[in-house]
Amino acid sequence: MSIFEKRMAYTLVMISMIAAVSENGVIARNGALPWRVPTDVQYFLDKTLGKTVLTGRKTFETIVAKRGSSFQSDRRVYVLTRDVSYTCSDVTILHDIADVDTTGDVWVVGGGEIYGEMIEDADRLYITEIHTVVDGDTYFPAIDKSVWHEISREPHKADTQNEFDFDFIIYERK
Ligand SMILES: NC(=O)c1ccc[n+]([C@@H]2O[C@H](COP(=O)([O-])OP(=O)(O)OC[C@H]3O[C@@H](n4cnc5c(N)ncnc54)[C@H](OP(=O)(O)O)[C@@H]3O)[C@@H](O)[C@H]2O)c1
Repeated sequence: MSIFEKRMAYTLVMISMIAAVSENGVIARNGALPWRVPTDVQYFLDKTLGKTVLTGRKTFETIVAKRGSSFQSDRRVYVLTRDVSYTCSDVTILHDIADVDTTGDVWVVGGGEIYGEMIEDADRLYITEIHTVVDGDTYFPAIDKSVWHEISREPHKADTQNEFDFDFIIYERK
């Protein structure tokens, strides 16, 4: 049974994706964010606090390298990997997206591979549009405007902390 079919049984459950994306679709370069926008990092932490999150193994390792284990102690974390020997304390390791517990809301936190696999199942996209064009090696999938409707946009100006202008945008599936 696909994650979508499982979710049909729980109609109020939302699958949300959250990502910071440059104007040319980049989300990362060499395993890191190619910009310094700490207000967006805080937005990501606030939105996912106490929630169930789904992350690819590569993204999980970048988060742990930056934040230690506080990320998983404040959230219920599913880590997707094909490596059956992978272990980590305080998270649930999954080898198949269909095994995600969709009886409650799920926040998909990346990275590129996971966004690509999950966008068809998502109900909402929390996109921070970073107003720059950058080189990168990892991308968010195209947001098809015939499928996604922008329901809110909160613009912010660059300042001494945040390197570029950025907008917090929420898209809902039409
Ligand atoms: N800008 C943003 O908002 C944002 C957000 C999140 C991440 N990022 C960046 O994105 C980069 C990582 O993205 P990525 O695309 O390289 O990797 P990723 O999506 O984080 O993780 C990919 C890994 O997930 C596992 N995986 C994927 N699909 C699977 C499936 N169907 N079943 C089982 N396991 C599966 C595999 O792990 P194994 O190799 O262990 O098998 C795969 O190598 C990082 O640089 C991170 O900083 C940016």
